[in-house]
Amino acid sequence: MPDKIKSRVDTLISNMSLRAKIGQLNQPETPTENNIEEFKEAVRRGEVGSILMSVGATAGNDAQGEINVDFYNELQKIAVEESPDGIPILFGRDVIHGHRTVFPIPLAMAASFNPELIKKCYRDTAIEATNDGVHWTFTPMLDLCRDPRWGRIIEGTGEDPYIGARIAEAVVAGLQGDDVSNKDSMLACAKHFIGYGASEGGRDYHRTEISDYSLYNYYLPAFRAAIKSGAMTVMSSFNDISGQPITSSRKYLTDILRNNLGFDGFVVSDYDAVIQLIKQGVAENSEECASMALNAGLDMDMHDGCYMDNLEKAVNSGAVSVDVIDEAVRRILTVKMKAGLFEHPYTKKIKLNRTEHLKDAREMAGESIVLLKNNDVLPINKSAKVGLIGPFSHERRSLLGSWTIDGKADETPTLAERMREVIGGNLNCISSSTLGWNSVNKNIAAADVVVLALGESWSATGESRAVSDITISSEQKELIKKAKTYGKKTVGVLFCGRPIAIEEIAEDLDAVLYAWHTGSEAAGAVSDILFGDVQPCGRLPVTLPRKATHIPLYYNVTSSGRPVNCYYGENPGNCYIDSMPTPYYPFGYGLTYTTFKYSDIKTDISKIAVSELKAGKKLRVSVNVTNKGTVSGKETVQLYIRDVCASIMRPIRELKAFKKIRIAPGKAENVTFDIGYEELGFFDDKGNYIVENGKVELYIGENCLTGKKTSIEIV
Ligand code: GLC
Repeated sequence: MPDKIKSRVDTLISNMSLRAKIGQLNQPETPTENNIEEFKEAVRRGEVGSILMSVGATAGNDAQGEINVDFYNELQKIAVEESPDGIPILFGRDVIHGHRTVFPIPLAMAASFNPELIKKCYRDTAIEATNDGVHWTFTPMLDLCRDPRWGRIIEGTGEDPYIGARIAEAVVAGLQGDDVSNKDSMLACAKHFIGYGASEGGRDYHRTEISDYSLYNYYLPAFRAAIKSGAMTVMSSFNDISGQPITSSRKYLTDILRNNLGFDGFVVSDYDAVIQLIKQGVAENSEECASMALNAGLDMDMHDGCYMDNLEKAVNSGAVSVDVIDEAVRRILTVKMKAGLFEHPYTKKIKLNRTEHLKDAREMAGESIVLLKNNDVLPINKSAKVGLIGPFSHERRSLLGSWTIDGKADETPTLAERMREVIGGNLNCISSSTLGWNSVNKNIAAADVVVLALGESWSATGESRAVSDITISSEQKELIKKAKTYGKKTVGVLFCGRPIAIEEIAEDLDAVLYAWHTGSEAAGAVSDILFGDVQPCGRLPVTLPRKATHIPLYYNVTSSGRPVNCYYGENPGNCYIDSMPTPYYPFGYGLTYTTFKYSDIKTDISKIAVSELKAGKKLRVSVNVTNKGTVSGKETVQLYIRDVCASIMRPIRELKAFKKIRIAPGKAENVTFDIGYEELGFFDDKGNYIVENGKVELYIGENCLTGKKTSIEIV
């Protein structure tokens, strides 16, 4: 911590009352007209260190009013000019994947495999949100997840730790900018620490069982990357691991987060998580909740007021020492100072031109959409007659996805509007599958191509939105079957948030575009791809299973003595006797409008010593990638390793690098990856990083199932 900040913090703390110190650990939500006067009094007493700029426990699901910047400036003025210590309030809001300009849901952005563009979108987001007075957002959400039943899978980066880490870096860099103290920089918050995405059965808030080995190798890497990139806040998670609620766990919030990952910022709880320790059965009363959480290393209490109501008593009873409180206050004040809050506590809102942001939104959506199937039907010729049918043809709100509390559905173009801009009267459009079939009949009969706009409502995704059946509605499945009877080439556009079980759907379609919930410009991006103005280039950051009953099914699985997972097609007879648990579409999969050929995979050295790797030496892996088609295309070249034999079982494949490159038709590119210590090791269950000698296979290709490989020997 810079000395100047340290001395300012020490001076402040030395002058603060105990109650004022506890006030800095207190984050109530935005006051309403019912409690505004008593709220202002609490601010005046210095008992409001931060404000959650929303109302309700599931802000992502409930409409929140527009931000009233003057209102928050008024509260800030009381804090700065009338409270005993004049400490500014830190305003935090869930600006998860965009603000007024909504970008694709984070899982869709992960499908772009384009961290640079993600960073740009979060820079746009920070500019818009800080202009509304938001200092701090509760993103990136880095919960690795292998269970699409969990509604919050849409908020994260999927099933892989490597891409999670790259996205964590991009989001933190985009939000915090070149200098986190700038007025248009917004504090990031890596959440939810840790393991929330492993909620049993995909049921939100449910228990998890995560070994330390899995924690260090799957769930922690993205947090490690976020912290290394400068994230100064972390949000603890609702779940427990093996009976230990994270909220009150010193093992996770101090030993691992601080001592192993080196985090030195502050930890905020999730909403009411401190008082929920009673329901989790580890605390008798609210005073125990407060002392257990603070002593575990949880610095700021979101919404339940448990710290404000109980910590003075806890100090008097000896359950909590003032030193522990001082340490939490120090962390929070340090972050406030680094964020420049003492220099610019107020917001002067300006009129923003969002044209460039909307362009970025359309580009990001176009990079995130995944072409899963194309039997010679896409792109559609612009002179063709197109029948557009289905409940998502005129949909606006769902295209924005969950956790878009400042997005505006009425500003969101529909697929019908964007397609009509391209082909005008050649678009025959039926707004929904509920219309009488004969009117649909006429439009299908007259069409050269039928586009079915299908999907999943935004409100079936996000927090408290787990589902037991990961598919689209039976009415939509019926629509596919009916459309198929006309013998026309039929394209399915799936506006789904979560990965869905896709076998039953994809079989009956000639082409499938996975459009996710891709934000303000989702419809434009889909139209761009349908008519070939943009090449599809998204890749799956999660596995699409055949059936929901195959969950969990993920690519970075370890092998077994006898094949049980079957992800890689090992002896399918030994898996379920009633179905094949191979992925319908695997991790890293996605098509383009051209085809690529991989050849000539090689390494510049075949052996490398552990000591050389430790000293920073890298080996170069190269491959030739040729565009065999007639149009240019973007290929995401993926490098996976397999540590064939180690002191602990290692995954059959681990993504360790990727490059997304555009290649002109007929041209070839030589793609190289330099890999070394960082890529070739793993963590033991104590969190020690280890590189062992032995054979490592290197796979390079278009998705995790690629068989194109070479190998090296670590000696
Ligand atoms: C919610 C979510 C968390 C969010 C917080 C504030 O319950 O779990 O992700 O940031 O509360 O809305």
